[in-house]
Amino acid sequence: MIGRVYLDHAATSPIHPEVVQAMLASFTNNYGNPSSIHYAGRDARKALDEARAIVAGSIGADEREVVFTSGGTEGDNVALIGSAYANRDRGRHIITTAIEHPAVLEACRFLETQGFDVTYLPVDKDGIISLADFDAALTSETILVSVMYGNNEIGSVQPIRAIGERLEKHQALFHTDAVQAFGMFDMDVAELGVDMLTVTAHKINGPRGIGFLYVKNGTNLVYPFHGGEQERKRRAGTENLPGICGMAEAVRISLESRKQKRSDFKDYKQVFVDTFAESGILFEVNGLLEKGLPQVLNVRFPGVSVEQLLMNLDMAGIAVSSGSACTAGTVDPSHVLVALFGADHAGVRESIRISFGLGNSYEEMEKAASEIVKVVQRLCK
Ligand SMILES: Cc1ncc(COP(=O)(O)O)c(C=O)c1O
Repeated sequence: MIGRVYLDHAATSPIHPEVVQAMLASFTNNYGNPSSIHYAGRDARKALDEARAIVAGSIGADEREVVFTSGGTEGDNVALIGSAYANRDRGRHIITTAIEHPAVLEACRFLETQGFDVTYLPVDKDGIISLADFDAALTSETILVSVMYGNNEIGSVQPIRAIGERLEKHQALFHTDAVQAFGMFDMDVAELGVDMLTVTAHKINGPRGIGFLYVKNGTNLVYPFHGGEQERKRRAGTENLPGICGMAEAVRISLESRKQKRSDFKDYKQVFVDTFAESGILFEVNGLLEKGLPQVLNVRFPGVSVEQLLMNLDMAGIAVSSGSACTAGTVDPSHVLVALFGADHAGVRESIRISFGLGNSYEEMEKAASEIVKVVQRLCK
């Protein structure tokens, strides 16, 4: 008997039992401060170094290029604001996309108040930017390009490598928010041509409040935290060692399991699409079914209010999301769907995000898909 089904892994994901074990071991054994010179400090330092090696290795980086952060929001903010301030003598232009996470978009809005000029690249119907638009936006004044790897709402994957190639001989630094894509795809920072890359642990079955920012050696950044000399003076503050050890374990597991996940999640998507098609309900997939992030499926049900759909699904024990902020019973349309459809299009109020992860099964997908069909049929009556 299948009970409740959690399909909101892109919001946050359940912690892996082995991650819990790694964190418990760290809490118990590594209580020292990694900066202390006595035996307890040395034990903690060893654990920190080992975790850093795992994390760096997962993206083909040098260990010195990893800065531990409190998660994706911090990584994005440091990358954007830090590189804008450090390079403002070279120009004041920044390029990003209209569908970034608020951690990037709001950092850009802040930079606009500080005299920077930001280009927000539009996306096509599949949620992908055009390289021609990118080429047209790039100027000799551009100091930073921030383009997300995979979108958290519709799963669209951007041409990161192609942008990296274009910027090879350009002064602009290149940052990618890889929060949703990390742990799904093989990732090598040199191949991608990025200078900075943001990751957070809680999307890959690690703990919340911990992440890392890859910063290529030699990158000019202003870091906001001042204090102790942790992280080579780039992020002051006693390290969150249990979090870091938990993240390293989550990274290790994600490297081992990503191939299987890609294949499972492809099948899961198909269960939904087939069940919807067989039932005869009206639906459209937002974004590309095959080429997007494996764990994200965004679907529109024409004529169905997303608020009612979410409420009814919750009552049926199915947790999915709309990707929109819900205030006082009204849904603020998601900026990603607005970028896709336009603000006046009904699609921005008729779409849900289903996202897969640890613990899900094929049977759960069958149950969730048929519950969605039932609710949609009821709401369409
Ligand atoms: C694409 C993307 N970037 C950044 C973040 C923020 O990460 P965190 O919650 O670790 O601050 C998220 C989390 O929702 C995300 O999906």
